[in-house]
Amino acid sequence: MHGIRQTPTGIPGLDEILGGGLPAERLTLVSGPAGAGKSTFALQFLYHGALNEDEPGIYVTFDEKPENVRNDMLSYGWDLRGLEKQGLFAMVDGFSSRAGVASKEPYTTELDVDELLTVLVELIDEIGAERVVIDSITAVALSLQDEVAVRKEILKLGAVLSTLTCTTIMTSEMTRKEEVSRFGVEEFMAQGVIVLDYIFAQHGMRTVQVRKMRGIKHSTTERPFKITDRGIIVYPNELIYTQKPK
Ligand SMILES: Nc1ncnc2c1ncn2[C@@H]1O[C@H](COP(=O)(O)OP(=O)(O)OP(=O)(O)O)[C@@H](O)[C@H]1O
Ligand SMILES: [Mg+2]
Repeated sequence: MHGIRQTPTGIPGLDEILGGGLPAERLTLVSGPAGAGKSTFALQFLYHGALNEDEPGIYVTFDEKPENVRNDMLSYGWDLRGLEKQGLFAMVDGFSSRAGVASKEPYTTELDVDELLTVLVELIDEIGAERVVIDSITAVALSLQDEVAVRKEILKLGAVLSTLTCTTIMTSEMTRKEEVSRFGVEEFMAQGVIVLDYIFAQHGMRTVQVRKMRGIKHSTTERPFKITDRGIIVYPNELIYTQKPK
């Protein structure tokens, strides 16, 4: 018997829900509203992979300045700069061109699927990357003219990414809980979909749910998670409570 190989995420508790980890060399969509923890999730996956699994990673940032990402991640104790110096991590700056400012980064891309793919293929080869994150695909989609173009480009991105031998996460912002993806195609081209959310703002419970993971036996129950000063921790055996605990 041989199923899909799964790769540990580095997020405590999550691999239990996933039945072992993310599907290796496949594409997973991580979706959720603003501030749900998507970037933290994706960077924890890369940081852990580079540090503990001998799997170098690439982070494409469209929503945040690379310098801000590096500094923000220090608050979890993750030294991305150190990993970059060791050739275990690389950042692709997709933010600067979007913001219309000059980039100081060695690797850059415009909001253009063809250019992004060219940069990625070269960089994957250069550092031997096995993990890739594109944060976020919403930025790419919003730059396109109309829905037809969005679908075409996102499907192209997904198709090319699925030919690469990297375990890939794409983040996408969603506005309502029922909508996993804003453009209606992201969730179909991905092997798996994980939704992060927060409910009951008064006590700040964050939730994670694996909506789908093709070829993998996983739990679909929503579980609580926390963002701590060491990153995300998932509680795979705890239930979501609807009242603030006394
Ligand atoms: N050290 C920390 N300890 C606890 N919580 C933190 C810490 N650092 C950040 N957070 C929380 O994590 C949230 C940010 O999560 P993150 O940036 O990963 O979300 P996101 O889904 O990527 O958001 P966006 O849609 O804005 O890109 C912050 O809003 C804050 O609540
Ligand atoms: Mg983010």
